[in-house]
Amino acid sequence: MNHPAEVDTFKDSDMKDHLDPGHIMQTATAFWASKVLLTAVELDLFTVLGDGEMTASNLGKALGLHPRGTYDFFDALVALKFLDRDGNGPEGSYKCTPQTAAFLNKKSHTYIGGLPEMLNSRLFGFWNNLGSALKTGQPQNETRHGGKSVFEALYSNEASLGAFLDAMTGFQAANFAQLAEKFDFSKYKSVSDIGGALALLSRIVGTRHQHLDFNSFDLPPVLPLAQKHIEAAGMEGKIKAISGDFFKDELPKADVITMGNILHDWNLENKKILIRKAYDALPEGGAFIAIENLIDDARRENAFGLLMSLNMLIEFGDAFDYTGANFREWCSEAGFKRFEIISLTGPTSAAVAYK
Ligand SMILES: C[S@@+](CC[C@H](N)C(=O)[O-])C[C@H]1O[C@@H](n2cnc3c(N)ncnc32)[C@H](O)[C@@H]1O
Repeated sequence: MNHPAEVDTFKDSDMKDHLDPGHIMQTATAFWASKVLLTAVELDLFTVLGDGEMTASNLGKALGLHPRGTYDFFDALVALKFLDRDGNGPEGSYKCTPQTAAFLNKKSHTYIGGLPEMLNSRLFGFWNNLGSALKTGQPQNETRHGGKSVFEALYSNEASLGAFLDAMTGFQAANFAQLAEKFDFSKYKSVSDIGGALALLSRIVGTRHQHLDFNSFDLPPVLPLAQKHIEAAGMEGKIKAISGDFFKDELPKADVITMGNILHDWNLENKKILIRKAYDALPEGGAFIAIENLIDDARRENAFGLLMSLNMLIEFGDAFDYTGANFREWCSEAGFKRFEIISLTGPTSAAVAYK
């Protein structure tokens, strides 16, 4: 039973002041919606539907689901705008929306389901320990019990290596396409993408700007997979996959050095080492570009950037996301002279420092 004082407080003051608890309730339950989408990807629902349409009964059978949840699950996906439905009830037929058909059907060449797959299989569980991360400052992922570093743990078998790299594609494909449009590459001849994963940046920017040559630099286990994607794109003549360790080796020299979601993986000391290495690998006038979910300088607006920084706490402990002002300060220390921020998709920006 409620304490009488609590009832009075709610009724008399809050409601009179037109306070609305909706935002609290929406965020408190946001994981329900998230988990519905992630589970749809886990079940491969959007690939099973493909370009076709199915009734709830047929779709449920195709996915091996118990009838109890099918209408609630599929109609929740309709209400959340991840499925369309023609008609109602047993006759109603479900189909992908243009977005889920393009991005979450495994047969589509623009599939980005690797990201929801990783959010579901790894991060959903790890975020359950956010409180523990906040109290200890320690990572809550595969490295929680010590031993290997994150990348050693993820790259210790082919399945988790492939899954992680596919997830990165989901995060960045649209941002690299925006970078190709918005940054003036015309005055440069070469680009080294550091931590280039599957050479996605090189493939996207290289397709848009045919005059550029690329190095895509990453750890040795990544090399064969990057190579495979470069060959599939027919870009062997333009993109060289180079294996190395950016803390032990020199960065391959180029007119432009890019780092997509690299600096946020490390603590301040290592961020500064990487910035210094980028500076050393550039000629006078060269550009260093960090593509990240740059937090606004007042740290009030970019909720996604701030949540990403908490994700870095979960993944690495002392790693963190940062503001444009932070980037400028660290790059000035390394000797860079001029700066700009180019906004890409949603919460992501390109922070640019010119030598
Ligand atoms: C968060 S992912 C970002 C991938 C890609 N740049 C993007 O924007 O999606 C970090 C990348 O850094 C690479 N990496 C981690 N440690 C490295 C090291 N010591 N040397 C070279 N690459 C490293 C990882 O293999 C991975 O591809």
